[in-house]
Amino acid sequence: MSNLREVVVSPTYSPSYSVVIGRDFLCEISGLIEDKVRTNIDKVVVLVQEPVLNVSPTRRLMDSLSERWRTYTMKVPSGEQAKSLDVALKIIEFLHDIGATRSTLVVAVGGGALGDVAGFVASIYLRGLKLVLVPTTLLAMVDSAIGGKNAINMFNIKNVVGTIYQPVLVVEDIVYLDTLPPREISSGLAEIIKYGVTINPAIVSIVRDRHTKILERDSDTLLDLIELAVKCKAWIVHLDEREERDVRQILNYGHTVGHAIEAAAMGKLTHGECVMIGMIVESDLGVELGYTNPEVHKLLVDIAPRVNLPSKVPREISIETIIEKIRHDKKRYGDEIKLPVVKNLGEFEIITVKLTSLERTLREVLPRHVE
Ligand SMILES: NC(=O)c1ccc[n+]([C@@H]2O[C@H](COP(=O)([O-])OP(=O)(O)OC[C@H]3O[C@@H](n4cnc5c(N)ncnc54)[C@H](O)[C@@H]3O)[C@@H](O)[C@H]2O)c1
Repeated sequence: MSNLREVVVSPTYSPSYSVVIGRDFLCEISGLIEDKVRTNIDKVVVLVQEPVLNVSPTRRLMDSLSERWRTYTMKVPSGEQAKSLDVALKIIEFLHDIGATRSTLVVAVGGGALGDVAGFVASIYLRGLKLVLVPTTLLAMVDSAIGGKNAINMFNIKNVVGTIYQPVLVVEDIVYLDTLPPREISSGLAEIIKYGVTINPAIVSIVRDRHTKILERDSDTLLDLIELAVKCKAWIVHLDEREERDVRQILNYGHTVGHAIEAAAMGKLTHGECVMIGMIVESDLGVELGYTNPEVHKLLVDIAPRVNLPSKVPREISIETIIEKIRHDKKRYGDEIKLPVVKNLGEFEIITVKLTSLERTLREVLPRHVE
């Protein structure tokens, strides 16, 4: 296991854990768990997202686990519908039926949606079962698998019920990215670009200079990028595990406008596509408000098409709809909203702006970014 990369996450309050990153090493996962999760394990429950249930990496993972422990597998539906009370209850019933104890390990194999519901159940069953995350999308590898946030959706509200509960190990095998649709790769890249612009400009250089290799899924380039991105997320989780300080707000860069576009697009755009457009609009907003170096905005406009991400708001989404959605943003406090801004590459600040002034500036800026 010598060519594996390892990033240690040390959250503000919870115990540290490793994120192990490499290619084609799932046949060794039981040894890795024994090495990193130094606890007694009586059985293992593997929760697997449908599209990765019957692929060879998952089979290698299962073989490795079942050689060492009694292993039970449950298939979980694909995508956002997995983040429901109904699916959470089914997982709880499954854990009960197989006689899960406090020594049972939950291994969650899938994208961010699976990780969120699995993490939620692992955090509440018997007041907490040990959890290993095996993210299978680029977005989950660089974002959702690190930091301990989990949630299910209810009342048509995303992530409304959840906890913060850290895994004991995260295992990232990029072999899973071989089967990921190109649009999902680009979507994950938007969050990676976000880390680059806000925290570590080295990421921006890799995306700008090696974009062809990235889209061809060259292993070394992907491993470099994922490692750097995971380090950024780990840094934030170390400083602000529970969102008690403003610093974690930087993860919302591009998301104020991005979420508004996502809500208005009704599923036509992916989350990452909306975040990319959101970063472009918000960087221009930053320029207009006098915080952002215009080079940052230019760079984002230049980089988006290189990784097949859109840079313009679709014509059918009206500016008023976007502004209306921002009025209901979660990050709103009374008549003000917290907005992360990038000053120069890798240098950010969280500012508080009056909603009225944000709306006024957006009415000036947004028309420049419509298709
Ligand atoms: N907890 C957090 O901190 C956090 C952070 C960001 C996002 N999220 C959540 O993550 C979710 C989005 O994550 P996602 O983009 O991974 O979505 P996802 O889990 O829905 O996966 C995207 C699609 O790819 C499929 N898929 C997964 N792995 C695959 C593979 N290897 N090959 C082919 N297809 C595969 C999935 O079945 C799904 O259809 C959202 O629910 C979001 O709220 C959570």
